[in-house]
Amino acid sequence: TEPRRKIVAGNWKMNKTVPEALALVRELRGMVSVLRDKVEIVLAPPFVALHPVAKAIEDSNLKLAAQNCHWEASGAFTGEVSAPMLKELGCSYVILGHSERRQFFGETDETVNKRAQAVLKAGLLPILCVGETLAEREAGRTLEVVERQVKGGLAGFGAGDVAQFVLAYEPVWAIGTGRTATTAQAQEVHAAIRAQLGRLYDGGTAEQVRIQYGGSVKPDNAAELLGQKDVDGALVGGASLKAGDFAAIVKAGA
Ligand code: G3P
Repeated sequence: TEPRRKIVAGNWKMNKTVPEALALVRELRGMVSVLRDKVEIVLAPPFVALHPVAKAIEDSNLKLAAQNCHWEASGAFTGEVSAPMLKELGCSYVILGHSERRQFFGETDETVNKRAQAVLKAGLLPILCVGETLAEREAGRTLEVVERQVKGGLAGFGAGDVAQFVLAYEPVWAIGTGRTATTAQAQEVHAAIRAQLGRLYDGGTAEQVRIQYGGSVKPDNAAELLGQKDVDGALVGGASLKAGDFAAIVKAGA
């Protein structure tokens, strides 16, 4: 089997107006153009910036992700955006089940799973986020929680579909806190997820699925994290808002 290609994604969350987004992309393009074949680079701006950013990266190898989508293709769902709409815009990926959505917007394993079905059906690829809270880690429940989220998010999919998923392990206590999981903590959970995929599907599928780490990834810790055997990339929040920092993280993966 081919080695897994690293994937570094910038989750801009609710940051950057359209002009700010375009300025960031312009700066970033020059910085990562030589690296783009070694690492898959994905940008996830807010919905309103997706179209202009799609235009701005048209002739590059940068890929586009949305930060969420609804599970229905169209209809009376005020304020929502569907997977086919995102596909038409030029998105390749959709982030699903981010802990901020689980915490503040009522996402559950079940709704995440429904969204994942819609994403694959539209020809997009899911980046499925999982991760434990600090209380769960301190109670020794990390693997139980993460495995429940993985199983729930992937429910009903066959091995062929699952191989197309990107998973992102984001310990909630490490997000935006400056507190990163140690490389050993990250590797432990990543390896456990891969072992779980082996049990749920098969060894080949488990080897194919890329598992990103997210949570205070910065230029100075990226190389060590990305050097772990089962860490196949990074899902970067805060540091993806600065071209220089994001480019340095991408370089660490190359
Ligand atoms: O999805 C990325 C994320 O939640 C990590 O955010 O700011 O800790 O890098 P941050």
